[in-house]
Amino acid sequence: MNRRSLLKGAMGLGAAGAAGFPHIWIKSADMAYAAGGEIKIGILYSLTGTTAIIETSLNHATLMAIDEINAAGGVHGKKLVPVVEDPESDPATFAQKARKLVLSDRCVSVFGSYTSASRKAVLPVFEKYNNLYWYPTLYEGRECSQNVIYTGAVPNQQQKEFVPWLVKNFGKRFYLIGSNYIYPKEENNVCKILLKQLGGEVVGEEYVPLGHSEFSSVIQKFQDTKPNVIFSTVVGDSVVALHRQYKAAGLDPAKMPMASLTTSEEEIAAMGGEFAAGHFTSAPYFMSYDSPENKKFVESYQKRWGADKVTNFVSEPAYFQVHLFAKAAAKLGASDLHPAEIRKAAWGETVQAPEGLVKIDPDNSHTYLWPKIGEAQANGQFKIIEQSKEWVKPLPYWAYEGEVCTPTGMMEKKS
Ligand code: ACM
Repeated sequence: MNRRSLLKGAMGLGAAGAAGFPHIWIKSADMAYAAGGEIKIGILYSLTGTTAIIETSLNHATLMAIDEINAAGGVHGKKLVPVVEDPESDPATFAQKARKLVLSDRCVSVFGSYTSASRKAVLPVFEKYNNLYWYPTLYEGRECSQNVIYTGAVPNQQQKEFVPWLVKNFGKRFYLIGSNYIYPKEENNVCKILLKQLGGEVVGEEYVPLGHSEFSSVIQKFQDTKPNVIFSTVVGDSVVALHRQYKAAGLDPAKMPMASLTTSEEEIAAMGGEFAAGHFTSAPYFMSYDSPENKKFVESYQKRWGADKVTNFVSEPAYFQVHLFAKAAAKLGASDLHPAEIRKAAWGETVQAPEGLVKIDPDNSHTYLWPKIGEAQANGQFKIIEQSKEWVKPLPYWAYEGEVCTPTGMMEKKS
């Protein structure tokens, strides 16, 4: 935070007479982040609307992590107090609620968003007020804000091994189907770059509106073009409709599988395992992953939210990122709790997550993760068929030669 924005922040708190003594007011403003016995944090995941199907699990995993941290004594003996908002799967509502959490509630960090559209919508709020947004979702990369900690996979952690594996096992002709917003389009651009390198071909590319549920014309195009792989970045409720209608049309995953970056145990639970069986997803986490930390995560989640509930590759980072936040905050003095200080303390921080040891990369505020490929089974779980032997460094500009980001949030050209 520079001096001008500090001054502006102090003025915003009604410190009209403070201009001559900014440090006094800065201190009192900052201490508000850990007032009394509480540290307020914002929770901004949709509980209604088309992506509530997945975002509800992010809210649940976040609240569970907060409970664990509070049960262990909190941070500096202070309890984490969640301020929960429902942004209703609507980017404009996300921005409005983000402003409330940052300005009225004085949250020291906010944990939120599934879609990249909602992340882009809140970004100006976090950048303007120098607050910190913890974003757990896989996304397209090509962003490096100094006001975001990114804990989901970027394309080099999700597509880099997946696309060559699909080409090798099924063939070079891909049909790209996505929801109509920034994430699927950018992610498909990466897929096209990879396919070009592999001598592959895009036989169709199509985007459906968010919440779309009528896939008959899309499925007719699958039947007409006969791709080897249907590469899906469809999100939300539409994932359920797409899978059900694919099966109802008599298509066969053994011949024309869907390969997805966004179909998780959560959407499969909603559609029924038989509709997902034989399709593939690439992600750093699956509920079926065998580790002591994952066993504990799944058991605690089901105890807290219901024995029939599932965990998934977005709820897992939603969970571990709260633990990373708490570890970073615990390194600071209680009166130094400020979003900018937490960001610095978070760089290089690690936690033993359900998927393996993860680390926030100080080079770019993204996270070292453990890529895997899973095949969906009729019981709603994934059989893990490939997994990285090492954690993989996040490279948010990997597919775009000449672009790189720095921890200050400035994007630089390599040459
Ligand atoms: C996404 O929009 N990042 C799934």
